[in-house]
Amino acid sequence: MAMDQMHKMKEIKQQVTRFLMMYKFALQELETKVEILKEEFQLLHEYNPIEHTSSRLKSPKSIIEKMFRKQSDLTFTSIRDHIKDIAGLRINCSFISDIYRISDMLQNQSDLKLLAVKDYIKNPKPNGYQSLHLLIEVPVFISDRRENVCVEVQIRTIAMDFWASLEHKIFYKYKHAIPPHLLQELKEAADSAAALDKKMERLHNEIEEIKEESENDLGDEMIRLLMGNQRGSIPTMLLELFEEGQQKK
Ligand code: GTP
Ligand code: MG
Repeated sequence: MAMDQMHKMKEIKQQVTRFLMMYKFALQELETKVEILKEEFQLLHEYNPIEHTSSRLKSPKSIIEKMFRKQSDLTFTSIRDHIKDIAGLRINCSFISDIYRISDMLQNQSDLKLLAVKDYIKNPKPNGYQSLHLLIEVPVFISDRRENVCVEVQIRTIAMDFWASLEHKIFYKYKHAIPPHLLQELKEAADSAAALDKKMERLHNEIEEIKEESENDLGDEMIRLLMGNQRGSIPTMLLELFEEGQQKK
């Protein structure tokens, strides 16, 4: 290979690395934001709305394949404009209501810009696929400038994720031509997953109500005990309980 060709290749390689690096940084920024929301939520509501998050960068090979499919030029500008899922963040929630909560919280952050929403929960795909997709523009600051980088966020329940992983495997195994009986069964499985999500949500709400009631009962009990103790000393344990409650507020 001629020297100038070698040099050119090295230069392109460096450009690709720099290009993908921005997407990696955008993912890191967004992952930190989600982590903060998760910890704060845990503290306020004493349960975890986010089961698990994962992120991935599209490989150069998949990017090139997708550009071919879309019959678009292979330039950085064109890739940026045509492929919106170079950076992907997946958030697995416990309940459907948490999906919308997390989505709202992200949309309310003033440094993020929502580019698009696809709600496959309200409108599932014909195959049964469900998830909430957001395209979010994340500002990334590097040494000499700020760049807005697009990240695809998929928010779903554990049941939706379970279904999507299996469907994905089957889709690739059959090279996109899935036998009709499998399609039918996958659709049924998606319906079952959706029914499970609804049931779990209902149970969760019921448990939350009971939790609130018993917390109120504990308050009443404490007041009664404290009042009955006016003559004597207040037991240390009760005092500690009281102080713990104050700290939580
Ligand atoms: P591209 O798929 O990126 O070309 O864009 P699109 O306009 O089709 O976006 P869409 O929001 O429909 O899908 C984006 C991503 O969601 C995909 O890359 C998958 O990760 C996921 N997804 C969408 N549909 C399905 C589906 O039917 N099954 C599974 N398993 N995943 C899906
Ligand atoms: Mg698609």
